[in-house]
Amino acid sequence: MINVLILNCLKKSQIKKSPLTFFDFKTILMNMEGIMNNFKIEERKLGRSGIVVRYIGIGLWGIGGDMWGKTDDNESLEAIEKALELGINFFDTSDVYGNGHSEELLGKAMKGRRDRFIVATKIGWKNFDGDKKVSAYDTIDKLIKGVEENLKRLNTDYIDIIQNHINFREPNMEIFLEGFQKLEKQGKVRAYGVSTSDFEYLKEFNKDEKCATLQIDYSILNRTAEKDIFPYCIEHNIGVIVRGALAMGILTGKFTKDTQFGEGDFRQNWQKNPEEREIFYKDLETVEKLKPLAKNKTLAELAIQFVLSHPAVSVVIPGAKNKKQVEMNLKAAYLPPLTKEELEQINSIVPPGGGRKIWPA
Ligand SMILES: NC(=O)c1ccc[n+]([C@@H]2O[C@H](COP(=O)([O-])OP(=O)(O)OC[C@H]3O[C@@H](n4cnc5c(N)ncnc54)[C@H](OP(=O)(O)O)[C@@H]3O)[C@@H](O)[C@H]2O)c1
Repeated sequence: MINVLILNCLKKSQIKKSPLTFFDFKTILMNMEGIMNNFKIEERKLGRSGIVVRYIGIGLWGIGGDMWGKTDDNESLEAIEKALELGINFFDTSDVYGNGHSEELLGKAMKGRRDRFIVATKIGWKNFDGDKKVSAYDTIDKLIKGVEENLKRLNTDYIDIIQNHINFREPNMEIFLEGFQKLEKQGKVRAYGVSTSDFEYLKEFNKDEKCATLQIDYSILNRTAEKDIFPYCIEHNIGVIVRGALAMGILTGKFTKDTQFGEGDFRQNWQKNPEEREIFYKDLETVEKLKPLAKNKTLAELAIQFVLSHPAVSVVIPGAKNKKQVEMNLKAAYLPPLTKEELEQINSIVPPGGGRKIWPA
């Protein structure tokens, strides 16, 4: 269709014997946007929950405004609006992102059109005592009340996927399991899952085969989940939600050794802390090797396409703080899947199962 449009404009310019005007280009671009708006992003199932989602979603930690540098609520709401407009329907947040601010913004965006959103949120870290390793949710009632707070902030009466955010086996895994199952029966959540990179924790959490989803860090720089975790998820019908596909921005190729991170951005530690700096610089070297593979596409698109090429993956949730990033990341959905040759080239830089864990959890 876009070819026909360009052809018509070219014909017009031949008839008029004049070059294409600004308005001709604008028409082409506007129609391209229309095509993008009508384009249907591939759908995949979130494991045993049976919930079907478009395979590129959005991560909303950044818009919480507390750890990823300055944010502007209007820009954040525009980012959600753009995601929705372009066909994204999966949104990931948590009770602790901006101390609930991310959930509140999502709640605001959902007002009057809840059915267009598939919402995954999390609970676990709020008021966690790190020294004693004691969770605030030490009874089922407290956990249920906690999730009711998630619901309030989200301004909704159900959550599609509630995720256990904490990766300490003791003291309260049973409470999360029983609490989530009770919430499912009450219709307050449709399914539950866990966010962790710890295989033993995942297996324990799924001991009664009821865990629907796993949220895990996975990217070209961190392929460790390919070894055991992804085969387990496929075998046990657990839908994989991928975080960290862009390795916190590193895999967009925009950082250099001179990059200085802004006020309130936890990535400042990558420059300040000598150990983290060494890792950051090593990652930048890998990124330089990857850059030539991103032919006719951006490195971010290559990185997103890469995670979607794994059969265990249901959905990827690149973090985005503004509508431009949403648009940029969604472009990966319009590209043909990575070829065998492209995957082999990536394997030669970071082998299957290789790379490093980006987050400890
Ligand atoms: N334990 C957990 O459960 C956990 C942990 C981490 C993340 N998450 C979830 O996963 C989501 C994704 O977070 P992540 O850590 O995995 O981050 P990521 O997706 O690897 O990177 C996100 C960051 O990269 C930058 N970015 C995104 N798109 C870009 C583009 N096209 N061009 C340039 N820069 C771009 C943005 O930050 P700047 O613009 O500031 O550079 C953005 O905040 C989070 O929002 C959250 O929902 C969950």
